[in-house]
Order: sequence, then C-alpha cells, then structure tokens
Amino acid sequence: MRYAFLIVLGLVIGIAGTVAAMNARNSGPHLPESLMHMQTFHIRALNKNVEANRCATSDNLPHLQALRSLSNDIEPIFLPIEKEQDFRLKAADMRASLDALIAAPPADCPATRAAQEKIGKSCKACHDEFRN
Ligand code: HEC
Repeated sequence: MRYAFLIVLGLVIGIAGTVAAMNARNSGPHLPESLMHMQTFHIRALNKNVEANRCATSDNLPHLQALRSLSNDIEPIFLPIEKEQDFRLKAADMRASLDALIAAPPADCPATRAAQEKIGKSCKACHDEFRN
C-alpha cells in the first residue's frame, strides 16, 4: 500500500515537472527569437511596400509604430545579458531612430527605403556586438 502511494506520488511529481518544463520552454527561451522575428516581419513589410510602389505614410507608419512598440520589449526580454549598459544603449539607439522616423514619417518610396536602411543599421549595430 505504502509503495503504491509512493509510485503514484512519483508519477504526479513527474507529470508536474514535465508540465512546468514545457511551460518554461514555451514562454521563456523562445521569446527573444519571437520578438526578433516580429521585427523582421515589419522590416520586410516596409521592403514589400517599396517593391509594390506603395509608399504613402499610411502604408508605412503602422509598421514603424509596430517596430517602435516591439523595441520597448527588447530589454525586458533579453536582460540579464553581458555588457548590459551597451546593450541598453543599442536598444535605445534603435528607439531613437524610430522616434525620429515616426515624427517625420516617410511619404514616398525613396524615403521609405531610407527609413528601412536606417532601422536596418540599428539592428546590425546590436547584432554585430551581441548576436553570435
Ligand atoms: C539591442 C539589441 C538588438 C537589436 C536592436 C536588434 N536585435 Fe535582433 N537579435 C539580438 C540578439 C542578442 C539576437 C540573438 C538572439 C538569440 O539567438 O537568442 C538577435 C537575433 C535576431 C534574429 C535571429 C532570431 C533567431 O531565430 O535566432 C533576427 C531575425 C533578428 N535578430 C532581427 C532583428 C531585426 C530585424 C532588428 C531591427 C529591426 C533587430 N533584430 C534588432 C539583438 C538585437
């Protein structure tokens, strides 16, 4: 009887542990990649707009705003990280670029392309230092 109880207890603990591990996998470790993939989605959307010659402010501003909003999550999702001050600086630089672009949003295709390149540079600046 006692052993049966211990076996059941062992099973319950095993199941609880598995569920906890699966939850941790779903929420924790994938968040950094998910954030980066969403940013890529919006950068590509700007690119597609240029290719389709769809470059009115109303086409582009939503993507700039989405990128700006996503960039608020960089530190909460990535920290703790080595060289934290530098990392924060890179994220802040990207937000500053986006703020400037949103304050004077692109209204034609050359400006949209330039905006996309400007954002791309701030992605690269961080990747050069922090992405393996
Ligand atoms: C402040 C730093 C920082 C900025 C800014 C940044 N990234 Fe990243 N990015 C990282 C780090 C760190 C990784 C590596 C993450 C990992 O593999 O866990 C990464 C990884 C990625 C990846 C690969 C994800 C994967 O599946 O492994 C993509 C795609 C990406 N970034 C796109 C972008 C784009 C697009 C931008 C700009 C709009 C951007 N990133 C801006 C830090 C940054």
